[in-house]
Parts: sequence; C-alpha cells; structure tokens
Amino acid sequence: MDKSTLVSVSNLTRLFDVSKPLLNRVIEREGKKLLRAVDDVSFDIAEGETFALVGESGSGKSTVAKMVVGLLPPTEGHIRIDSLDLSDKSQRGKMREMRSQIQMIFQDPFASLNPRWRVEKIIAEPILAFNLEPDDNAIKRRVGDLLTLVGLDPSDGRKFPHEFSGGQRQRICIARALASKPKFIVCDEPTSALDVSVQAQILKLMRDLQDEFSLTFLFISHDLSIVRHMATRIGVMYLGRLVEISKTKTLFRNPKHPYTRMLLDAVPDLEMSGRERKPVEGEIPNPINPPSGCTFHPRCPFADKRCRTEIPVLITLNDTSVVCHAVEEGRLKQSSS
Ligand SMILES: Nc1ncnc2c1ncn2[C@@H]1O[C@H](COP(=O)(O)OP(=O)(O)OP(=O)(O)O)[C@@H](O)[C@H]1O
Ligand code: SF4
Ligand SMILES: [Mg+2]
Repeated sequence: MDKSTLVSVSNLTRLFDVSKPLLNRVIEREGKKLLRAVDDVSFDIAEGETFALVGESGSGKSTVAKMVVGLLPPTEGHIRIDSLDLSDKSQRGKMREMRSQIQMIFQDPFASLNPRWRVEKIIAEPILAFNLEPDDNAIKRRVGDLLTLVGLDPSDGRKFPHEFSGGQRQRICIARALASKPKFIVCDEPTSALDVSVQAQILKLMRDLQDEFSLTFLFISHDLSIVRHMATRIGVMYLGRLVEISKTKTLFRNPKHPYTRMLLDAVPDLEMSGRERKPVEGEIPNPINPPSGCTFHPRCPFADKRCRTEIPVLITLNDTSVVCHAVEEGRLKQSSS
C-alpha cells in the first residue's frame, strides 16, 4: 500500500448460498449451490481519486460496493481503508471513527430516504450518530449549510422526501452522505434512475464537491460514457472478476480485453467520428454454473482451446492490468480507436 493509497481491496471474494431448502435438496438429491458473485477482486484507490467499476448487470459491482462500506462481510479477502483492516475485530474503537469517514450513495434516492422523516432529520441523523455537533442549534445550522452546499434551500429541511423531484432527492442523499465529513464515498449507480439532463447536473455537483472536500470516490456504473467523465481509473468486471484495470484515457484509447472492447463498441459515438455502434453481443452466463476456463469464452470472438480450459491470470502491461490469454500471447491486434 503506497503512501497516497486510501482504499486497498485485496483478493475479495463473496459467495451466496442459493441452494433450495434442505428438504427439497434431499428429495431431489441435489447438493448445495453456491453463487460466486465476486471472485478474487483486488484494486487500490488513491486519495482524491475516482475509481470506477463498470460491467453489465449481475457482474458483482454492488456486491463489491456493499463489502467495501461494511454492509456485507466478505467470504474471503481484505479491505483496508487508511491502513485499517475492516475485518480486524481488535480495532473496534478505531473502526467506529472510520465508519464516519465512509459513506454510500445508492441508485434509488427515494428508497434510501425515510419517507416519514423531514429532510432536516434525515440529514441530521449521521451528525447525531457520530456526535459531531455540540447542540441542536449547531446541528440546525450545519443541516442548512449542507442543503445550500448541494444546491437546495435551508427551508427545504422542513419538507418530506416526496415533495422533491428525483434529482433533488439525490441532492438530499448527497447532503446526508456529506454530513459526517467523509473522506471516501461509494456511489452505486447514483444517476441511473434520473433523466439525462438531471444526471449531468448531479455528476457536476459530485465533481465540484470532490474538488472542494478532496473526496475519494468508488463510482459504480454500467454506463461507460458516464464513467469516462468521472473516473481517473476504471476497472471492468465480468461475472464477478475484474478483467481489466486501466487509466480512463488509456482504456478508451487502447482497450485490451475483448469484453472491454465489446462494451466500448456499444458506447454512442459522441465524437461523430463515423465509427459504427455495435450492440453488446450474447448473454451473461448463469453465474451458478459459470463457463470453464475464461468465463467470457462463449461470447469472445478470440476464444480458442486454451481459453475454454485454462483460467487466465492477471498480467500487467505498462499501466494496464488485464486477464486474457490472447493478450498475453500477443495475438490480439491493437485497437484502432
Ligand atoms: N443476497 C444475494 N443472494 C443471492 N445472490 C445474490 C445476492 N446479491 C447478489 N446476488 C447475485 O450476485 C451476482 C452479482 O450481483 P450484483 O448485484 O453485485 O451485480 P451488479 O453488477 O451490481 O448488477 P446490477 O448492474 O444489476 O446492479 C448476481 O448474479 C446476483 O444475482
Ligand atoms: S482469455 Fe480467451 S476467451 Fe477469455 S477474453 Fe481472452 S481471448 Fe477471449
Ligand atoms: Mg448493482
């Protein structure tokens, strides 16, 4: 872990037991079924950086997010934030302090706000939980400041969540996330439920707040065109594994993994270069019975015998890490985009 690393995730794995009830299993002579939602995922996030995770639905992005904020225990692996290992039970005191430093923003701003609470109570909750202000007046002032910070009015604190639009509700979630003065915010598809024009405003707000408070983001999205403008580095996930990690510019200019190439080919051509847009091909296999070898092989135009039998390992080329036999063997042509 180098000096500026704030978050370090190593060999993170999460299995879910998706077996039928015991009686059915006995009658149907079936064993336990385990779903490998996240498989040996490792990455670091530097202070002030935005690291993005992208991938199709079911690739394990939210499961990583929940483990990183401590909402879900890992089956294997470690998460270190500011050098503190989240699984180290001997560090309970420090852990409580650390909890205030980590916040999460979810996709659906309505579901994550208590509909019966006024906005001022929602935003004050973390301030009270971590005992961050001396009295009620100070809390009220701080809530007003937070509302102003996210582009709302202090008087909005008296209203209930249903009185706001989707974009405004996400602003409330951001204000609540900032209330405990976090260093690190995990954003799980924060704008996917919003209209495109509102999306752009929320993303701009997040970038402005990041600059103002030196925030570090783990930003999750299935949409590469959003991630392009938010992230310093990008990790591409497929069926629970990280298949490529690269700086954003490098990933867009020179994607290495065939899956990354497929995702990029599907991104609308904003530069109007005349490049043809191709839809993402094939379907994600059932994660309970993943394909042998490289799990991407049934969809991969470059798959060969080795791909069908041997699991590829991570190799690092310049500033890109990639998991692919064809890249390792040098049999993929450089992409022209
Ligand atoms: N609590 C759970 N029990 C059983 N399986 C689960 C559970 N949570 C997630 N999964 C499975 O784990 C895999 C990864 O799910 P996850 O929600 O992390 O994917 P995702 O990349 O966030 O997808 P999306 O883009 O749809 O949000 C999926 O196959 C999902 O069905
Ligand atoms: S290892 Fe083989 S199947 Fe997997 S992405 Fe690379 S070329 Fe395709
Ligand atoms: Mg998700």
